[in-house]
Amino acid sequence: MATVDWTADANEALTLSLVRAEEDKQVPGSEETSEEFHPTFTYPIYGEEEKLYGYQDLVIDLRFASGSLAQYLSVRYAQKLDASTTVDNVEGILKEFIPPDYDTDEAAFLTRVKEDAVSFQPIGSVVHTYTRPVPNTSGSRSATREVVEYEVYHATWNDPGFREYHRRMQIFILLYIEAGSYINEDDDAWHFFVSYEKRKRQDGTNTYHFIGYSSVYKFYCFPEKHRLRLSQFIIVPPYQHQGHGSELYKTIYNYVLLNPLISELTVEDPAEAFEDLRDRNDLRMLLANENFMKEGFGNEAVSHGGGKVRKRKTRVRANPVGASSGMVKSTGKMGPPIDKAWSETFRTQLKVAGRQWQRLMEMLILRHFN
Ligand code: ACO
Repeated sequence: MATVDWTADANEALTLSLVRAEEDKQVPGSEETSEEFHPTFTYPIYGEEEKLYGYQDLVIDLRFASGSLAQYLSVRYAQKLDASTTVDNVEGILKEFIPPDYDTDEAAFLTRVKEDAVSFQPIGSVVHTYTRPVPNTSGSRSATREVVEYEVYHATWNDPGFREYHRRMQIFILLYIEAGSYINEDDDAWHFFVSYEKRKRQDGTNTYHFIGYSSVYKFYCFPEKHRLRLSQFIIVPPYQHQGHGSELYKTIYNYVLLNPLISELTVEDPAEAFEDLRDRNDLRMLLANENFMKEGFGNEAVSHGGGKVRKRKTRVRANPVGASSGMVKSTGKMGPPIDKAWSETFRTQLKVAGRQWQRLMEMLILRHFN
C-alpha cells in the first residue's frame, strides 16, 4: 500500500498575489487575482526545515490589495490529519507576522480591494518619477508610444498611516531577504522609499500599485553629518528584472547626493543580486561623470560614451581640480594604480562608501587596461 506523505513544502504552499480591482486590470474580465508567486524563504515563519506537517495539497493563499496591501488569508487542503499535536497550525503561526485586520471572507476582501483602489494614496512625498513603455500582454514592449508612470515616495514613521502601511509590507522582507527581520518601530532613525506603478482610470483619477520598497537607517557621523545605511531592499517578483530595482536604488543614491547633511551611502550585508544591481548602477553613474572620467581615465572615455580608454603612463597629481591628464598611474609598486588623494576627493564628493569605491575603481581599472 502506498504511503501518504503529510509533509508540504512551505515555500510552495504559501501562494502570494497582488490583487487589482476589476477596472484596473490590464486585461478586463481576467481572473480577479493577479499573477501568483511564491516566497524564496519561509524559515523565519515556519521554521528551519520550511516544511509543514499534517496536510495534503496544502495552499496558504495570502493576497494583498495591489495598492493598500490590505490582506486576505485562506488556508485550504484536500485532507488534514485528525487534530493531533503534531499537525502544524498554519494560520495560527502566520498570523503572528501580519496585522490582525486581514480578511478571511473572499467577497469582503474583493469589496475592500475595490474601495481601496479608489481611496488609497501613497504615503509620504514623491521623490522620483519615471516611465516605461506599456508592456503588452505577451510581456514584450509595446510598439506604441504609450507609457506607464512610476513614482517613488519617501516616508518616515511621522507620516500619518505609514506605521500601519509598513506592518503590511514588511512580510516581504522575511519572505525574500535571507536573514531579514522586522525592524524596531520605536526607532526614529528609519526612513523608507516605496515604489508604485501609477495608472490612470477612465474617470481621470489615479490608482497606485505597490512594487517594492527599501528601508534605510540614518547614523550619526562625526562631527555634524549623517551616514545613510541601506538596510532592506525588495522588489516584489512580478516587477523584478524590469529596472525598478535600479530606479529605487538611484532614487536613494540621489537623495544622499543632494542632501548636504548626509555624508555617504552604505549598504548592510548586501545579497549577491543586490551587489550586482549596485555595481551596475554605480558604474553607470561614474561613466557618465565627465569630470571624473576625463581626469581619471583620459578624454576618450567621455567622447566615446564610456568606450575603451588608451593605455598610457600618467603623472600623479595630488590636487584633482583642473587636472587634465589621467589619474591611472604606473608606479611599479604593489597597490592600486590610482592616485589616492585624487580618488578620495571624488569618493567623498560622490558619497560612495570606501569599500564600494575600491570595488568600482578596480572595475574601472580593469576596463581601462582591457
Ligand atoms: N540575480 C542576479 N542579478 C540580479 C538579480 C538576480 N536575481 N536581479 C537583478 N539583478 C541585477 C542584474 O545585473 C540586473 O541587470 P540586468 O537587468 O541587466 O540583468 C540589475 O540587477 C538591475 O536589475 P533591476 O531590474 O533594476 O533589478 P530588480 O528590479 O529585479 O531588483 C532585486 C533586483 C532588488 C535584487 C530583486 O530581485 C529583489 O528584490 N530580490 C529579492 C530580495 C533581495 O534579494 N533584496 C536585496 C537584499 S540585500 C539588502 O537588502 C541590502
